[in-house]
Amino acid sequence: MTMAQSPVFLGKNRIRLSEVSSTNDFLQDLLSKTSPIEGTVISADSQLQGRGQLGAKWFSDSYKNLTFSVYLEPVFLAASELFYLSKMSSIAIVIALQRLYPKEKFLIKWPNDIYHENKKIAGILIENALQNDHVKHAILGIGLNVNTENISTHIPAATSLYDIFHSVQDREYVLDQILTCIEELYSSLKTKDFTTIDNLYFDNLLYFNQMCWFELQDGQQKQGKVVDIEKSGLLVVEWPCLERESFDVKQLKWIF
Ligand code: BTN
Repeated sequence: MTMAQSPVFLGKNRIRLSEVSSTNDFLQDLLSKTSPIEGTVISADSQLQGRGQLGAKWFSDSYKNLTFSVYLEPVFLAASELFYLSKMSSIAIVIALQRLYPKEKFLIKWPNDIYHENKKIAGILIENALQNDHVKHAILGIGLNVNTENISTHIPAATSLYDIFHSVQDREYVLDQILTCIEELYSSLKTKDFTTIDNLYFDNLLYFNQMCWFELQDGQQKQGKVVDIEKSGLLVVEWPCLERESFDVKQLKWIF
């Protein structure tokens, strides 16, 4: 895949905030009052009430990390193709990090977390609006742990670029690379090149086709392997008896 050096349309309208409750909420509010151009990027040095998936909170030290939201209008996507936004954003972060740090391995933990050596380094919260059976707009909210030191002392299963490289990283430069990658992959999505996106997602998926342990909603622990992802985003696990079962994110947990 060829990459431009800097994004062309993503971030053309760039709003940098020193403090905000949540960049996703700021963008939602902006949308209710104005018509931001597609590709608008809101970033904040300090996010006081960052939101994560499934109603969780997203904690991020002020002036240390990346917390930003990207506004897109993927009207060409049917509601049934919504999971491609998750795929695209997680691949973009992984590719950007791999380009910046080629010696390290960054992978996607389904559905859209970014991991380095079994520790989470970035998370994505996508909020979208549908019109009829198509996507009207989407907000991609991304949090990446960049310069927090010893992050696992506050968040046990997390890591940061600082903790991997033991040196301070340039947040703006990292952001620029991520936006460049989102822009590139978004143009593949626009042409409905789903095969490219699917292949990149599977190529960078943590534990794909490997036996691992899962905990089901009823507390039962089982070994199985991820063999597919449904179009809707459900994870398809194959058990040793070769039976396959599909799960959403609330229905099973990985045991590392
Ligand atoms: C997750 O739970 O993994 C998703 C975390 C998403 C956090 C980002 S930070 C920028 C944007 N604003 C928010 O309030 N949340 C997202």
